[in-house]
Amino acid sequence: MIEIMANILLISGSPRKGNTDFILKKIFQSLGGDKEIIFLRNKEIRHCSGCLSCHRFGKCFMNDDVAKILDKMRTAKTLIIGSPNYFDNITGLLKDFLDRTSPFYQKKVLEGKMIINVVVGGGSKKHSKRVGDYLNYFAESQGLINLGCYYFRALEPQELEESHSSVRAINNIIAKLCAV
Ligand SMILES: Cc1cc2nc3c(=O)[nH]c(=O)nc-3n(C[C@H](O)[C@H](O)[C@H](O)COP(=O)(O)O)c2cc1C
Repeated sequence: MIEIMANILLISGSPRKGNTDFILKKIFQSLGGDKEIIFLRNKEIRHCSGCLSCHRFGKCFMNDDVAKILDKMRTAKTLIIGSPNYFDNITGLLKDFLDRTSPFYQKKVLEGKMIINVVVGGGSKKHSKRVGDYLNYFAESQGLINLGCYYFRALEPQELEESHSSVRAINNIIAKLCAV
C-alpha cells in the first residue's frame, strides 16, 4: 500500500459491478491516506431540473444524495472519475451526476484540484476517445488540473482481471498519483 497524503475521491459511473469498478477498486486498494470510493448506482441522483438556482445561489435545492457527494468533492484534492463507454459517451448515470455539479461551475469551486479520467469500452481504445474527450472537457470547464485520461478495453464484467496490459495501465495511474 502506498501512502499518499492527498485526499482522493474515486467515482464510478457504471451501472453494474464490472470493469470500471474493478479498475477504481484496484487503485483504491493500492492507496493509503484519505480516500473514498463512490458507486453512483447506489445513490439517489435526480436529473438536473434546469432551474438555474445554482447560478443564482451557488446551491442546488434538490433533496437527494448529490449534496453529500458534492461536499466530498469540495474536500478532495484529487478526483478519479470512471465511466464505461455507452454509445460513444459516458453513462447516463454519470451524466446525471456531472450535470448536478453545476453549483461548482460559476465560482470555479473545483479549480486547482486534480483529476484522472478512466474510460472502459468494449471496442478499441480509439473508439472510446470521444468519451475521454467529454470527461476531459468536464475537467477543463470546472478548472480541474487534468493528470490524464486512461482507456481500457473490455466488454464482459471481470474481463480486465486477467489482462496484463490493464494491470500495467492501473499501475501507471497509481504511479502518476504518487508523483504529484
Ligand atoms: C448500452 C451500452 C452501450 C455500449 N456502447 C459501447 C460503445 O459505443 N463502444 C464501446 O466500445 N463499448 C460499448 N459498450 C460496452 C461497454 O463499454 C463495456 O461492456 C464496458 O466493459 C462496460 O463497463 P463496466 O463493466 O464498467 O460497466 C456498451 C455497453 C452498453 C451496455
